[in-house]
Amino acid sequence: EKGGYEHFMLKEIYEQPRAILDTYRGRLLSQQGLIKMAGIDQNLEKFQNANRIIIVACGTSWHAGLVAEYIFEDLARIPVEVEYASEFRYRNPVITDKDVLIAISQSGETADTLAAIKLAKEKGAFVFGVCNVVGSSIARETDAGAYTHAGPEIGVASTKAFTTQITVLMLIALKLAMKKGIFSQSKFHEFLTELENIPSKVEQTLKQDKLVKEIAAVYKDSPNCLYLGRGYNFPVALEGALKLKEISYIHAEGYPAAEMKHGPIALIDEQMPVIVIAPKKGHYEKLISNIQEIKSRKGKIIAVVTEGDTSIRELADHVIGIPDTLESLTPLLTTIPLQLLSYHIAVMRGCNVDQPRNLAKSVTVE
Ligand code: M6R
Repeated sequence: EKGGYEHFMLKEIYEQPRAILDTYRGRLLSQQGLIKMAGIDQNLEKFQNANRIIIVACGTSWHAGLVAEYIFEDLARIPVEVEYASEFRYRNPVITDKDVLIAISQSGETADTLAAIKLAKEKGAFVFGVCNVVGSSIARETDAGAYTHAGPEIGVASTKAFTTQITVLMLIALKLAMKKGIFSQSKFHEFLTELENIPSKVEQTLKQDKLVKEIAAVYKDSPNCLYLGRGYNFPVALEGALKLKEISYIHAEGYPAAEMKHGPIALIDEQMPVIVIAPKKGHYEKLISNIQEIKSRKGKIIAVVTEGDTSIRELADHVIGIPDTLESLTPLLTTIPLQLLSYHIAVMRGCNVDQPRNLAKSVTVE
């Protein structure tokens, strides 16, 4: 049932081109220039009149929520707050009937996320679910929702759920941007076309697997690892670090690159691998200075860059190229090598990749 792959995690990483396609299939109608999503269409007013969107989730789904914060604010100009469900539910949060709460959960069974939904509903918010498992508790408890259609995710480490969650949230943001008149038809069209190019670009990114495996062999015994990104790729840094720690048991931390000088830079020495997510977009120049700061302290740089990039190649110890795309879609590509890196390191360390110690696929207790 692993389809010839050694582990479910690897199978699920490789399923991403297909999973992303399944997520937008039937929704993204580029010929007609529209996005059709029943859960949004039927509740358009709620979204359009919302004072803000609150996103609640845990773990990897929370990281997808952070990416969505950049997407919604940047493209649809809606203020967003992203909360750990466990903190939100116990914090006496200020919620009104002008709020829309989006709960993100692969399993649809996460106890804290479910409790956050119940609380928000009691306070009158409109609650929308982004789940993978059809008919799950969260899917039933929410007022409306959109499934990710990623197919079953068996590996405890979430992979295709993450990229398909981002895809669904992107569709919602684009739809709202269009409805609010923020996007011109041509800009909307540009996004739809590029979204349709993503599965083949993920496919292309997966071709870096061999290179990533070679890099994994160099760093598999490192006790620590840092992940840095900015903007849309800051949450990807968090996700990369989570993936490494949960399956390889290497201590890893993700940071916004500019936070380095507020503390973590003290950790840098010749032993420290630093993974920098640096596509040639928005904050590229600033990332180059961050890389220089690390290099001057002898840290080892593994950079995820836009293919053809030469400036970072001169500075970094290793570069992994990904195809060019729109800035807001880069997380769908930059995530892939980080998943592969964690996977290979964990396998090389003899870890149980699909069922890491102390972890469960659905966290149904708080
Ligand atoms: O099923 P959910 O998306 O609600 O699960 C949330 C987290 O438990 C989950 O993403 C967890 O962090 C994964 N093991 C990460 O790979």
